[in-house]
Amino acid sequence: MSDDITTVLPAAGDTPGRRARREPAQATPVFPPPTEGDLVQAELPPDPFPQLPSDLATLDARGITAWFGDHQVLDRVSLTMPAGEVTALIGPSGCGKSTFLRILNRMHELVPSASLAGEVLLDGVDIYDTGRKLTEARRDIGMVFQKPNPFPAMSIYDNVIAGLRLTGVRASRDEKDYLVERSLASAGLWKEVKDRLRQPGGGLSGGQQQRLCIARSLAVKPKVLLMDEPCSALDPTSTRVIEETMGELQKEVTIVIVTHNMQQAQRVSQQCAFFLASQGQPGHIVEHGDTAAMFDSPIDPRTYDYVNGRFG
Ligand SMILES: Nc1ncnc2c1ncn2[C@@H]1O[C@H](COP(=O)(O)OP(=O)(O)O)[C@@H](O)[C@H]1O
Ligand SMILES: [Mg+2]
Repeated sequence: MSDDITTVLPAAGDTPGRRARREPAQATPVFPPPTEGDLVQAELPPDPFPQLPSDLATLDARGITAWFGDHQVLDRVSLTMPAGEVTALIGPSGCGKSTFLRILNRMHELVPSASLAGEVLLDGVDIYDTGRKLTEARRDIGMVFQKPNPFPAMSIYDNVIAGLRLTGVRASRDEKDYLVERSLASAGLWKEVKDRLRQPGGGLSGGQQQRLCIARSLAVKPKVLLMDEPCSALDPTSTRVIEETMGELQKEVTIVIVTHNMQQAQRVSQQCAFFLASQGQPGHIVEHGDTAAMFDSPIDPRTYDYVNGRFG
């Protein structure tokens, strides 16, 4: 688990004139979430965790503006990320894609001085509503990072179920066995590791570690999976395996992926949003919509230039 998600840092007071939507200080360990597994082997037993629903959900960001201190990095970004589809966020470095992604599961507020305005609706419910728990948002909306971050000394098995404790779910041995198999199968890793579940996660290849992190996210059955350049540290073969996995996963979880690889955006996504921050201005969405249309017939000339590799 990366350092930045293990501790919720103290929140500053609201900044006048902005809706600084910060939670009070908590020491709640948090982290990525997951999904349901229809695509898993047909012989799997019925779901032992019906109390953790995982229906496909739409994520709707409305008027997201973000700051680090006085530095505004996003300006009124609105984007609907439809249920069961893959939405790709593209754009040059520094235009706020990662910040936007982190706002989508309440990780932005971990940064001291960070604040934001706007709403993030998960099937119509604002994840920033007071009364909604931080851990709930993070369980419903999981995150996979650029660098695979399994617990290296922990077994593959325990890595997969590491999130259960954090979300307060108690499970029997049989239930855990089931979840481990289903999550690994959904992440496209089961066959490769089923005979060495007790070996450390750190012994896997980079691509396998990334799929282990996906499995760990899936074990708590998220509704949305956020992926921030999940393949940029991987070789082409591992990248291809993850892309194929995403194609299966989107049947059970809504996916939002940041990628700098234009071919990847075209291969994996149905929706696409082009972010840009020009000349010290905060990042905003220049154009968004159907991925094929964005690449074949973009409306804005800047989108045309970017998707054709002319800058960024
Ligand atoms: N923790 C942070 N503290 C201060 N500024 C930050 C922090 N993270 C990102 N930024 C700034 O926010 C802007 C957007 O960054 P980021 O969201 O990482 O963009 P991208 O993912 O598109 O490369 C950049 O100007 C970056 O320097
Ligand atoms: Mg980034």
